[in-house]
Amino acid sequence: MRDKWSSNLGFILAASGSAIGLGNLWKFPYNAGANGGGAFVLLYLLFLILIGIPLMISAITLGRKTQLSVFGAYKSINPKWSFVGGLGVICGFIILAFYSTVGGWVIYYLKTAILGGLNSTDPIFLGNLFGNLMNSPVELLLYQFIFMLITMFIVLKGISNGIEKASKIMMPSLFIIIIIIIIRSITLNGSLVGIEFLFIPDFSKINMDVAMNALGQVFFSISIGMGTIVTYGSYLDKKDNLLTTSSMIPLLDTLIAILAGLAILPAVFALGFEPTEGPGLMFITLPAVFSSMPLGNLFCILFFLLVLFAALTSSISMLEVAVSYFVEEKKKKRVPSTVIIGIIIFLLGIPASLSLGTWSFKVLGTLNFFDLYDKLTANILLTTGAFLLTIFIGWVLKPEEAIKEIESSGIKFKLANIWTILIKYLVPIAIGIILINSYIDFIKSILNIS
Ligand code: PHE
Repeated sequence: MRDKWSSNLGFILAASGSAIGLGNLWKFPYNAGANGGGAFVLLYLLFLILIGIPLMISAITLGRKTQLSVFGAYKSINPKWSFVGGLGVICGFIILAFYSTVGGWVIYYLKTAILGGLNSTDPIFLGNLFGNLMNSPVELLLYQFIFMLITMFIVLKGISNGIEKASKIMMPSLFIIIIIIIIRSITLNGSLVGIEFLFIPDFSKINMDVAMNALGQVFFSISIGMGTIVTYGSYLDKKDNLLTTSSMIPLLDTLIAILAGLAILPAVFALGFEPTEGPGLMFITLPAVFSSMPLGNLFCILFFLLVLFAALTSSISMLEVAVSYFVEEKKKKRVPSTVIIGIIIFLLGIPASLSLGTWSFKVLGTLNFFDLYDKLTANILLTTGAFLLTIFIGWVLKPEEAIKEIESSGIKFKLANIWTILIKYLVPIAIGIILINSYIDFIKSILNIS
């Protein structure tokens, strides 16, 4: 017997746990910062509504209909399409390799906060702190390893227990602490520039690259395109209403991303950091915000603890895709599969961990390992996976079948017509256009052509 979520709430908690993570707190703010602020946010929202939510409905439906994890789900409907599941499994390996790197940074920052070492508002000090970590291979790998160990440990304990229960406390706490940071951040002198930067789009900044990054960010953030949601959906009971869930999760996820942007970017401008800082943005900026508020160090510790929790509920969902593939399709045992896959992912992550410091050489064209994994997952693999998902639902499984599955729990899918048009035409065309740009951009980066 396959495991089931103990309740619909269990699924909602786990799926939003997968969605809400470093993508919202760490990646969204720096992506927005690097891609023109408001222009990026606007495209992000547009893509979320028109592409992200329809795909979320598709992925959950596919999982629940087949009751199989991603590889088996595609295979059971059309064996020729099982490669999409395979692509998702590969993507899971690379994405977690890169994710665990950043997960490791979070653990390091948590440790440093506990030791009181983040107490400063000085951009240079905080910049150096991050820079020094990037140049300390032993620490980087140690914390990355610890992050993977915890991820493996949780996955080993199977689905639908402790973690879901813990997220009932952890996620609301994260929400509250972000609100507290926002209050401090937007009351800093000079923060208005940051708020405007985030919410007033400069239309001249909109171009194909910004669109590509915004779309990649949507997929990364709502965990679409590699089978996580299909796999999680497969544990759903036939009587659960999947429509509310499908829209609630992306909306909640986006709310957290916007709030994280609002916590970080106003402070970036007020305290003299650079919005285009890149992957270090959250780590460099937030300690300064904490240091300028009462009980700052306590909040700082709590914040990194909650970020770690959010990151883990995402990383377990990535590992779960690979593990369930080997357990269900290859009939391997769960424990050794988890351990072996976890170790392979750790090894795969080593070059990414080192590549913002000691190994900063370009491995392919203009890309170091970290950028390579990042681009390869968000812009190429997830976007390709999302494209194939929409083609699959729109043209292979057919929307009518999907609607039947959705309505089988006794609900009426009121927007079925709109959803059908989106999934068959608009979503594939929109993703297709951007995807071509992503491939060209990726090839150019590899060949070092600007
Ligand atoms: N959505 C997660 C985050 O925002 C990352 C993720 C991507 C998880 C793809 C699973 C699959 O942090």
